[in-house]
Amino acid sequence: MNKAAILATAILITSGSLALAHKGASGAMKERMDLMSALGDATKALAMMARGRTALDWQVVDQAGQTAVHTGAMLPHKVPADSFKAPSEAKAIITSELENFTLLSSGLADAGQALQTAAANQDEGAFLVAFQGFTQTCKACHSRYRE
Ligand code: HEC
Repeated sequence: MNKAAILATAILITSGSLALAHKGASGAMKERMDLMSALGDATKALAMMARGRTALDWQVVDQAGQTAVHTGAMLPHKVPADSFKAPSEAKAIITSELENFTLLSSGLADAGQALQTAAANQDEGAFLVAFQGFTQTCKACHSRYRE
């Protein structure tokens, strides 16, 4: 296989497994899962940069920040009562704790804003601090609201 064919196969495999994980999801549930998948991809790219495995790319940092701001704003609107069943990993208690869930979503948006500020200033130290705060927001929400 040449390089392009290998890449195409890799993309097929990745998108295939994603489609499989989200199989049976529709409406707000699917939108929520898609938002999270995109956020996960953006976070992986940032982690590579934070560890010095890939070069810092401020445009990628800015875009990841934007994805987080958008996701934080959307999440509280993507948790209707009928959206907590297979294949979702979200817990139904979100409904009765919507205020706290919304607060954690705002925390994600704020962390995204901090990433965007670091990118605008091209400030590596600020990026590393912002990235740490950013990953804390994932854990804070997942530990309570994700299976
Ligand atoms: C305010 C809550 C909240 C925050 C903050 C949050 N998540 Fe999530 N995340 C969830 C919930 C709820 C699910 C389960 C969604 C479902 O299956 O319906 C989830 C699922 C995921 C998934 C699995 C998606 C899939 O394919 O099904 C990934 C990846 C993920 N989150 C990454 C992240 C990352 C990375 C961050 C931080 C940068 C983050 N999340 C921050 C609530 C949150």
